Amino acid sequence: MHIDILTLFPEMFDGPLTESILKRAQENELLTIRRHNIRDYTTGKHHTVDDTPYGGGGGMVMMAEPLVTAVEGVRGDDPQVPVILLTPQGRTLTQKVVQELAAYPRLILVCGRYEGVDERVRQSVITDEISIGDYVLTGGELAAMVIVDAVARLIPGVLGARWGAEEDSHAMGLLEYPHYTRPPVFREQAVPDALLSGDHGGIERWRRREAIRRTWQRRPDMLLTANLSEDERWFLADLAEADAPPPG
Ligand code: ADE
Repeated sequence: MHIDILTLFPEMFDGPLTESILKRAQENELLTIRRHNIRDYTTGKHHTVDDTPYGGGGGMVMMAEPLVTAVEGVRGDDPQVPVILLTPQGRTLTQKVVQELAAYPRLILVCGRYEGVDERVRQSVITDEISIGDYVLTGGELAAMVIVDAVARLIPGVLGARWGAEEDSHAMGLLEYPHYTRPPVFREQAVPDALLSGDHGGIERWRRREAIRRTWQRRPDMLLTANLSEDERWFLADLAEADAPPPG
């Protein structure tokens, strides 16, 4: 996977891209990331990238010329590559969207700043727009980092053989089950017996049920589309009944 990031602040990415799993993924050439400074694509003496909005009002708008030139320069003659603008107006990022993005060999992420980008950037080069949630950041950089991180961990080999992404919260349509490690008792709180049993079938059943319980407690909306067995549906019905207000 190759990701190009277009930004006015390439150094903002230093920490997240140069530590831990993302660092190793790049060292192992499972992921290549290039940061491009949009300012390098300006022509004027002052390297201007923004201007006041037509029609007045506060704030500045990112100009079309540097951004479109930057995208065209970076994209080259590869019309298939998604060019994604990070903006609070985009479709909301979910694990499903992350999976969709991870299937591409290449992505271009465009980080907006100021009040927004000139609409003609959207019309000429942007193929997708993504928001990481219903709140407003100072720019698209942090959102781009979130996408890089979430996509990178789905690339085969990035998490290592024993650490799959298949059971993640959201990946299986449920929140993840609770985790425990040593010691078996911590401040009088014991690890559930099922996990100490060594019975793999029993452990699997316990984990599925606890994932359902947690999802029921925290994100019941997700259960509408979760893939549950008959047995698990009965388990869920019992949970719902236990929570139901007493009759009358
Ligand atoms: N830029 C500013 N806010 C944003 C958000 N919520 N998601 C993506 N890009 C943004």
